[in-house]
Amino acid sequence: MITIALPKGRLMDESLEIFKKAGIEVDVPSSRKLFFTDKDKNYRFLIVRAQDVATYVEYAAADLGIVGRDVLNETEPDLFELLDLGIGYCKMVVAGKSSDCLTKKTDTIKVATKFVNIAKNHFLKKGLNVEIIKLYGSIELAPVLGIADCIVDIVSTGRTLKENGLEVIEEIFESTAFLISNRISYYAKNKQIVKLVNLLENERPD
Ligand code: PRP
Repeated sequence: MITIALPKGRLMDESLEIFKKAGIEVDVPSSRKLFFTDKDKNYRFLIVRAQDVATYVEYAAADLGIVGRDVLNETEPDLFELLDLGIGYCKMVVAGKSSDCLTKKTDTIKVATKFVNIAKNHFLKKGLNVEIIKLYGSIELAPVLGIADCIVDIVSTGRTLKENGLEVIEEIFESTAFLISNRISYYAKNKQIVKLVNLLENERPD
């Protein structure tokens, strides 16, 4: 059996959709149970936080995982990226109340983000001094309440920015979800993994 770590939330629904299209039928438990199998019992799925998918795969608790480019760029895990699934599309951006937010009179720009490494690297490349304010969610509140000049975060529909009076100032990169694997599983279960990659490859959205 192949064990696959799935990220909770929006990306999980899209992930299961692509498995279903590839002929792998699953019934997601309606309870609080955090693992389940497909109907043919070839695959076991784990439901984990998006930020934890790579950890489960790195420790070989899962053979494979589905994780966004955003999380991969932030954590840079030592794993194989087997396939861009083309789902979970979003953009990593700098956003603020207006483009003035990066041209302050003081020399340090305050940046609120969940993506500390991505934010640091982005502003380092631009030669700007920043103070990073690490938050775990609702990042958009930080500039609205004046504790940060801007944010680095993902934008999907753009609704959260718009409804909180913020706009995109700069795009950093585009993100989609990848199928990842650890080395041990990739070599030990190569035949089954390659078969799954081929099945999923044909079902990627255009
Ligand atoms: C993410 C992200 C933005 C929002 C963007 O947050 O951090 O806040 O989605 O989506 P949109 O462009 O479609 O509005 P998430 O929903 O994961 O919640 P969080 O704030 O708790 O991290």
